[in-house]
Amino acid sequence: MSGNGPMEITGAESLLICTCMQSNHWPLCDGSHHTLGGEPELIRLDKSKTYYFCSCYRTKNRPFCDGSHAK
Ligand code: FES
Repeated sequence: MSGNGPMEITGAESLLICTCMQSNHWPLCDGSHHTLGGEPELIRLDKSKTYYFCSCYRTKNRPFCDGSHAK
């Protein structure tokens, strides 16, 4: 990841996505929900593909980047 650009992830079969918006590693869950409430969302991925996850909070296709960071 660079700046507000997307987080590139390749080779993952699943990820826990933060839904409480308190993670210091958004869009990934860092366990902050344990003290603040909420539950992460488990998403399944094709490990042969590369995914781009939003790290600027502006996407309309959460948790994936939709290019909104460049606007
Ligand atoms: S830190 Fe937000 S759901 Fe886990």
